[in-house]
Amino acid sequence: MTKIIDGKAFAATLRLKFKEQVKELAHSHQLVPGLAVVLVGADPASEVYVRNKNKQAAECGMNSFEYKLDSNASEAELLNLITLLNERADVHGILVQLPLPKHINSTKVLNHIDPIKDVDGFHPVNVGKLSIGQKALVPCTPLGCTLLLKSVLLKSVISELTGKHAVIIGRSNIVGKPMAQLLLAEDCSVTLVHSRSKNIEQLVANADIVIAAVGRAKMVKSNWIKQGAVLIDVGINRIIVDDKTRLVGDIDFDDCFEKAAFITPVPGGVGPMTIACLLRNTISAYCMQYKIIDPNS
Ligand code: GUN
Repeated sequence: MTKIIDGKAFAATLRLKFKEQVKELAHSHQLVPGLAVVLVGADPASEVYVRNKNKQAAECGMNSFEYKLDSNASEAELLNLITLLNERADVHGILVQLPLPKHINSTKVLNHIDPIKDVDGFHPVNVGKLSIGQKALVPCTPLGCTLLLKSVLLKSVISELTGKHAVIIGRSNIVGKPMAQLLLAEDCSVTLVHSRSKNIEQLVANADIVIAAVGRAKMVKSNWIKQGAVLIDVGINRIIVDDKTRLVGDIDFDDCFEKAAFITPVPGGVGPMTIACLLRNTISAYCMQYKIIDPNS
């Protein structure tokens, strides 16, 4: 049995399922689910993400609407666009790619998206609902990590999430904090550590599950982890090896491989799950808007 959690293959399976669901929803409700992705500026990494998001939405049978604003577009211009997208009946999900240029207030922009179309799950209404266990749109990366952990359960290495000790490294609003909420909802004991935490290594040594989302290449070493831990690596760091750029995670994969029960690779682990979960959230948002049963709930 392989120890590697193949996020790329799992995401591909999910996309096939979502394609079927989109077909059925479009047929029974006479309207195709639609996702609008907004990019401000020309950050090369963001351009790649946005292209992939639109491509995969289209491949899954959704209407995908791409909006590219100039890097010096005003905040008012962006807010006006969001107002229009909030009102459009053929747009069910709205995503504004981050980071935004410095002259735009990201909080104001994210708060302007109608919570029922907020497929990133960043609006305070969705953040609040998640924290008190109400049905919410949930940030895509931590949702993807949760689905990967549940796929490990299916292989019965860890029989259930209930009571497991999960240590999350990183307290971002996009990953660390919502990840903690999702794992609490799965009845894990959760420890959230960050750059100011003391004794991170001792805390990680107690973890059945480690989620690393700090953005520091190969930070987690084998001597930090417990034998048989499940390791989920959210990090995507570019390092130079022999004059070539390589992508590595926050976990030292080669060093931890032997000791881990399961581990996600970088690339090909969490990354592909993020976009798959964006498609899942667009289907959820559509179902919420038409008050129909979400096939993935
Ligand atoms: N930039 C990096 N990750 C994300 C994400 O999950 N959503 C958005 N909107 N922007 C991002």
